[in-house]
Amino acid sequence: MTDQPAIDVEGYSIPLLGFGTWMLESDDARRMVTEALRIGYRHIDTAWIYKNEEAVGDGIRDALEAGYLNRDDLWLTTKIWVDHFDRDGLLEQARESGLSLGFTPDLLLLHWPKTQPSLQETIDALNEARENGLTRTIGVSNFPSAEFRKAQELSQALLVTNQVEYHPYLKLTKLLETARELDSSITAWSPLAQGKVADDPVLNEIGRAHGKSAAQVTLRWLIQQNVIAIPRTTKESRAAESFNIFDFELSDDEMQRIFGLARPDGRLGDWIDPAFKWDEEWA
Ligand SMILES: NC(=O)c1ccc[n+]([C@@H]2O[C@H](COP(=O)([O-])OP(=O)(O)OC[C@H]3O[C@@H](n4cnc5c(N)ncnc54)[C@H](OP(=O)(O)O)[C@@H]3O)[C@@H](O)[C@H]2O)c1
Repeated sequence: MTDQPAIDVEGYSIPLLGFGTWMLESDDARRMVTEALRIGYRHIDTAWIYKNEEAVGDGIRDALEAGYLNRDDLWLTTKIWVDHFDRDGLLEQARESGLSLGFTPDLLLLHWPKTQPSLQETIDALNEARENGLTRTIGVSNFPSAEFRKAQELSQALLVTNQVEYHPYLKLTKLLETARELDSSITAWSPLAQGKVADDPVLNEIGRAHGKSAAQVTLRWLIQQNVIAIPRTTKESRAAESFNIFDFELSDDEMQRIFGLARPDGRLGDWIDPAFKWDEEWA
């Protein structure tokens, strides 16, 4: 791995800044993944359900051929879709994702919690995928604290991250604490609040003091919490902008002002099965 900021989870070094690929169709996915790796990103996030694993793999191969990096320098994440949570379905998708990417992923996540089949069956299958060499590490996504703890109790291997929505308009105090207690990590999806941070007066004011944009301030705020952030863009200039966050630091006051932007209705992507409840942050 290169020397950019990373979080160490059980000896695995996960770069704190990654590049997201949700909604990137094939051409954009291939082009932007190569561009991100040229800029210096060393962490790429995709999922089976994004229907772009093959294009993401092509983008990585283009970058390797151009000499931008070596495979070992990259952290590559993909996710098991909820329709594939039975043992055979999970193993089949894990194989398919690896073939589509053309690479063994470094991290395989369960995309959303689900009531059926049992969590034990799904977690066992996820561990089996790891033991069979279909991924280096395993984790979860969109798991509230109770399910995150239960999943870890049932898992032989450490769940190295829980990838959840997190940005300045959401409070995540409890889940961050849970991740710390489990020796795991939090990865923030929609770290730029799907672009909404760009117009925020507080983030822009803090940015002006550092010669940075609201998006850069937001990503810096995340990585200063040791949270992994995976912004997405179709634009090369914005990919470069989002990567340019390692040469400044937010003060404690600035961090607290940004925590103050959280609001009870700040969630953008509430697609969780109603059987589960997000952590209560505002009681
Ligand atoms: N596990 C999950 O369930 C889950 C759910 C959602 C997302 N994710 C992952 O997280 C990644 C990031 O989340 P996201 O894609 O929802 O949202 P995001 O990164 O918060 O925001 C992306 C949006 O912001 C815009 N943008 C990017 N850089 C900007 C900048 N510097 N200034 C202003 N606008 C900017 C982009 O538009 P342009 O393209 O026009 O730049 C795009 O519309 C995804 O791509 C995916 O990999 C995971």
